[in-house]
Amino acid sequence: MSKEKAKIPRHVAIIMDGNGRWAVKQGLPRIKGHEAGAESVRAVVRACKKAGVEYLTLYAFSVENWIRPREEIGGLMQLLRLFLENNEHELHENNIRLRVIGRMKDLPKLIQRRLNKVIEATKDYKSGTLILALSYGGRAELVDAAKKIAKKAVEGKLNPDKISDKTISEHLYAPDVPDPDLMVRTSGEMRLSNFLLWQLSYAELYVTDVLWPDFREADLYKAIEVYEQRHRRFGDVQ
Ligand code: IPE
Ligand code: IPE
Ligand code: MG
Repeated sequence: MSKEKAKIPRHVAIIMDGNGRWAVKQGLPRIKGHEAGAESVRAVVRACKKAGVEYLTLYAFSVENWIRPREEIGGLMQLLRLFLENNEHELHENNIRLRVIGRMKDLPKLIQRRLNKVIEATKDYKSGTLILALSYGGRAELVDAAKKIAKKAVEGKLNPDKISDKTISEHLYAPDVPDPDLMVRTSGEMRLSNFLLWQLSYAELYVTDVLWPDFREADLYKAIEVYEQRHRRFGDVQ
């Protein structure tokens, strides 16, 4: 493992950042940046399929994002609803399964229903998995995992002395999904912003100055190319 060069990442996770700045740069309201960002999502889903990436996780809305102005949150929820309406057929055509990670119960009821409908309709698809992180926080996920584990311990179903890395992983939102190999962040910020804190332990990080609404297939392939040049050591020697 240590001497091998990385291959195509099996799982790519993206912090889709810079929508607001993209809009402001062109004198447009922030929501126009989110609208344009939806086109980048479509492009990246297609590019992942072409490149053979099995899992794509997109950070679409964080637990922290609820502090944004009400109109922006409303606009984002409306865009999410439209995105589902306009793109469900593409998931079917491409055999792609939709999943959600995050505190889905925080989302408006209508959105929850629409999401659940698409999740159910695509659950058996095998060509790829699109995971939307919605009302997601890495710490919230670990808190939720800790609660599940503690309950089992209290009920006598789990021995606290036997808790391991695997136990934590098994109680996360999508326990069957492998950890991301590559984490991409757009718009140049060098931070994780509470994204997949547990799962990114050994991910390769790639930050680009490109703003999310400008991110297209070629930008994803560039990130994958850079990833392929990395030597993943996982703590081992050269
Ligand atoms: C990312 O773009 C989308 C969400 C967080 C929902 P931003 O809205 O954070 O854009 P900037 O960072 O303000 O440019
Ligand atoms: C991270 O972007 C969350 C999403 C992309 C959904 P933010 O724009 O919210 O992160 P900060 O505030 O710059 O750290
Ligand atoms: Mg931002």
